[in-house]
Amino acid sequence: MKNLLYYYKKALKKGFALGAFNFSSLEVLKAITYTAEKLKSPVIVAVSEGALDYMGSDFVVENVKIVKKNCKTPIFLHLDHGKSFDVCKKAVDLGFDSVMIDASALPFEENVSLTKQVCDYAHKKGIFVEGELGQLAGIEDNVDVENNHFTDPQKAKEFVKLTNVDSLAVAIGTSHGAYKYQGESKLRFDILQEIEKKLSGFPLVLHGASSVNENYVEIINKNGGSINNAKGVNEELTKMAVQMHNVVKINIDTDLRMAFTAGVRQSLNEKPENFDQRKYCLLGQKYVENVVEHKIKNLLNSENKL
Ligand code: G3H
Ligand code: 13P
Ligand code: ZN
Repeated sequence: MKNLLYYYKKALKKGFALGAFNFSSLEVLKAITYTAEKLKSPVIVAVSEGALDYMGSDFVVENVKIVKKNCKTPIFLHLDHGKSFDVCKKAVDLGFDSVMIDASALPFEENVSLTKQVCDYAHKKGIFVEGELGQLAGIEDNVDVENNHFTDPQKAKEFVKLTNVDSLAVAIGTSHGAYKYQGESKLRFDILQEIEKKLSGFPLVLHGASSVNENYVEIINKNGGSINNAKGVNEELTKMAVQMHNVVKINIDTDLRMAFTAGVRQSLNEKPENFDQRKYCLLGQKYVENVVEHKIKNLLNSENKL
């Protein structure tokens, strides 16, 4: 099978990105991979440390193995936001295709040293490593834009050279979760451009890329939920990062969680007598498939890119 780096290079050349979709249940894993297979789109399935604990590492690895065997489209298993050498080592040893070491909260030198330690170990086994520099935080109204949580382009260049990392997550204005902005969403394309000047042709990653579809928020709220003031990043902006920049991996979790919750709530509300989770999860799974299809076709442009 062609490896992840092959697809990063192809994505850089052809102006698409791989979706890195988080999952923490079999239903969501099935929805992501079913859709990727249908659309012939390479895809990354990502698990956080929390998701790994929740599902159990054997469940994750064995189920992804089965899915890979049954799919023609390349599916890459990725550790999202590994915080220590040990958790990254465990993922490498378990057979993950790629790991992220997120030491972005540490001072630069410590981030370099931990990221390099993970790279040295993972690379010996042919596993790819994503590092992160800068801190994800939304640009909220009244926040000083000179805030230094954005990725420093010069430091990014040094970081890649010192660590030998394969891809880099950058902070340009996205943030995790459903409450990213108070006002309009903004991304610092000027910083992205500076990073690209320093790191020509290097694969970059955008975390916190969920757009928070109002439709699913409405379904959740209509069916007993209470989600207020949720705001994601405008998809036109993330699309620009894919089409005009070197962003080859886009991380999406919140949008899938919202879609799944909307489906489950709607289904339970419509059929209050049902207590069979295989039935009420189906609509959740369907909504996740719809989101993944939308992202592949409209944001990532990764359809038919095997
Ligand atoms: O980037 C974070 C992901 O959305 C995973 O979140 O740690 O709650 O599983 P989690
Ligand atoms: P969202 O919360 O925007 O979906 O971001 C997910 C993410 O970055 C996972 O690493
Ligand atoms: Zn993330």
